[in-house]
Amino acid sequence: MRLKLRIWRQTGPAASGKLVDYTAADVSPDMSFLEMLDVVNEGLTKKGEDAIAFDSDCREGICGMCSLVVNGVAHGPDRGTTVCQLHMRKFKDGDTVTIEPWRAKAFPVIKDLVVDRSAFDRIIAAGGYCSVNTGGAQDGNNILIPKEVSELAMDSAACIGCGACVAACKNASAHLFMSAKITHLALLPQSQQETHLRVVDMIDQAYAEGFGSCSNEGECEAVCPKEIPISNIANMTREYFRASLGARD
Ligand code: SF4
Ligand code: FES
Repeated sequence: MRLKLRIWRQTGPAASGKLVDYTAADVSPDMSFLEMLDVVNEGLTKKGEDAIAFDSDCREGICGMCSLVVNGVAHGPDRGTTVCQLHMRKFKDGDTVTIEPWRAKAFPVIKDLVVDRSAFDRIIAAGGYCSVNTGGAQDGNNILIPKEVSELAMDSAACIGCGACVAACKNASAHLFMSAKITHLALLPQSQQETHLRVVDMIDQAYAEGFGSCSNEGECEAVCPKEIPISNIANMTREYFRASLGARD
């Protein structure tokens, strides 16, 4: 396949960026989207031009590093899939593909397609943890909980912290990300005691970082590669109101 690419290039955080046209020739349908970009970068570096900066690490859908908006959709056209797991067979010969970074005030562009997602780390540091020593796996297994509860907790723990939910939201809200962590920890006996402290501290930190509020658009759930349900946000909001009404202590 031969594709026309329109890629966001920006030399640094303070520079103004723009979409630049490139051609990707000899693209195999079996290539991953990131392998296609690797080949484009090889061509650029051979010509002595600056390679396109983009984030990736595991390329297996587990680390949350990859972060591209493809044709206007965070992580691209495959539902429940990170962009590192997207394959070129999703595209047709002659297609034009536009590639942009996550767009949100709290995720400033560092270079080209790479954004700074350290705001998520600060939200986790504000409360997304269990502050008692819970021991090793065998200690956890000594506290019996119903299977359906452990499975619900695991579903929420599947969040990889990629930030696609923020990129897709018109309010740049981090609510789906926070609600995944809060729901996961609130379901487990070792960490549920701190739920009210956690929910207030994490939400306060999110607003301090410049993330917006939630207006129930559902765009976050639609692009989430781990299919975290928006019902988690209802859980989080319920806990936030309980905490606000004095249950925090
Ligand atoms: S909730 Fe989904 S989209 Fe948001 S950070 Fe977690 S995995 Fe990524
Ligand atoms: S590179 Fe790790 S999830 Fe995509």
